[in-house]
Amino acid sequence: MQSVKFVGFDGVEIHGAHDYLIDQYLKDQVNDRTDQYGGSLENRCRFALEIVEAVVNEIGADRVGIRLSPFADYKDSGDSNPSALGLYMAESLNKYGIAYCHMVEPRMKTPLQKVECLDSLVPMRKAFRGTFIVTSGYDREDGNKAVDEGRADLVAYGRMFIPNPDLSSMHLSTMSRGC
Ligand SMILES: Cc1cc2nc3c(=O)[nH]c(=O)nc-3n(C[C@H](O)[C@H](O)[C@H](O)COP(=O)(O)O)c2cc1C
Repeated sequence: MQSVKFVGFDGVEIHGAHDYLIDQYLKDQVNDRTDQYGGSLENRCRFALEIVEAVVNEIGADRVGIRLSPFADYKDSGDSNPSALGLYMAESLNKYGIAYCHMVEPRMKTPLQKVECLDSLVPMRKAFRGTFIVTSGYDREDGNKAVDEGRADLVAYGRMFIPNPDLSSMHLSTMSRGC
């Protein structure tokens, strides 16, 4: 691997979310392996953690982040116990001392809707001993509130930033939906 310092980037975010390859290992609804990468929570998380370790060894932990979406189920990539999955990953990542963990809110059940949801990332936030980034469905007000209340260190914005880079006049209508 050519080190990021040689190509001018500050770091690498490992994409372990939204049904891409790593996520497919993590989720028990799509991972049907019978070797040491399938079955138990520990086994399903092994591939992701080995990648984290390899990238950390290559470029240094302070240049590495990871994005995870334990609650998402895009393209059938869902898990029967997403809270346990998110918590296991948050706890396991502590070993590597990476720069941050970026996690997608449970309420992000579809790409275009903000929904209210009883599930929470707070247990993962408490378990992870590093910078914790949350995303999905945030506007300026509740993003600031999440940081003020200690539920996140940073909030990542997608849709609201694309049409409105200054984040000054955002409004999201909140849909109530069980999840
Ligand atoms: C048009 C569009 C494309 C997206 N593509 C991806 C993608 O390729 N991979 C991914 O992990 N998330 C993708 N997302 C999700 C965003 O990264 C982000 O998690 C999501 O938009 C939630 O944040 P927001 O509510 O602030 O928009 C996409 C979102 C949108 C709206």
